Amino acid sequence: MAGNIRIVALISGAGSNLQAIIDACESGQINGSVVFVGSDNAEADGLNRAKKHGISTFVVDYQAVVAPSRAPSLEALVPKDFVLERVLASQHVISACSNRDKLVRYFCTRAIAEAALLKEMAAYPFDLLVLAGFMRVLTPYFIDRINIDPSRPRIMNIHPALLPSFPGVDGYADTYRYGCKVGGCTVHFVDYGEDTGPIIGQKAFEIEAGDTLEIVREKGLRLEWELYPACIQLFAEDRLSVVSKTYTLQDGTTFKRKVVKIFR
Ligand code: GAR
Repeated sequence: MAGNIRIVALISGAGSNLQAIIDACESGQINGSVVFVGSDNAEADGLNRAKKHGISTFVVDYQAVVAPSRAPSLEALVPKDFVLERVLASQHVISACSNRDKLVRYFCTRAIAEAALLKEMAAYPFDLLVLAGFMRVLTPYFIDRINIDPSRPRIMNIHPALLPSFPGVDGYADTYRYGCKVGGCTVHFVDYGEDTGPIIGQKAFEIEAGDTLEIVREKGLRLEWELYPACIQLFAEDRLSVVSKTYTLQDGTTFKRKVVKIFR
């Protein structure tokens, strides 16, 4: 796909990563352009950053969809192509032993919100979807509709920790509060778990004795602004491939993991 790629971004907040990506497109560091920005939060500052660069924006109000008051009408609202059992069987965000009603409610409400996202996104053909501080987990319902060819994933996320350590909502705080001496950030393809997808790139920084959580966040964000554009450019140059790699343990047993191969 080498050439100019069309990038779309989903954000929830400040949008400093979005800004780094827009700047990298404008400076030519990324062979591509951001064609629209969506958010689950109408107040997200990142939406104003997009508008300043003439980029279209939209908002899908997740809160209105996932609010408990919507529970009785859920079945009538789920998209027609949503197959609950297929989503439940493929997801690995929530333990399958959890309360079934909660599981059903969670994935039905997300599918309703995700169908609204997909409807907005249908207006803009794109090559790559980047999650830039988008604080919602995407379910298999949405992912399968973006990754039309499962061997060529095209949803990337940036996470504020050195995965697989500290997945979840506040990676820098979790790293800091664990007493780690090193923190970092990770860019990965999105799969059916929470922050579990194949890793594309990582950057690390030292956490010094006097560092506060704010300093750790600052150090991390600075690295994010370098790492994300660099990973997106690898995608634009068609240098990323997800392959299944077999590893052998000391006792001779083997297991397979999907990993990202970067072509030189
Ligand atoms: C970034 O630190 C990003 O890694 C993190 O949110 C922040 C967004 O900042 N993302 C996640 O935690 C995703 N689970 P930004 O809005 O200034 O780019």
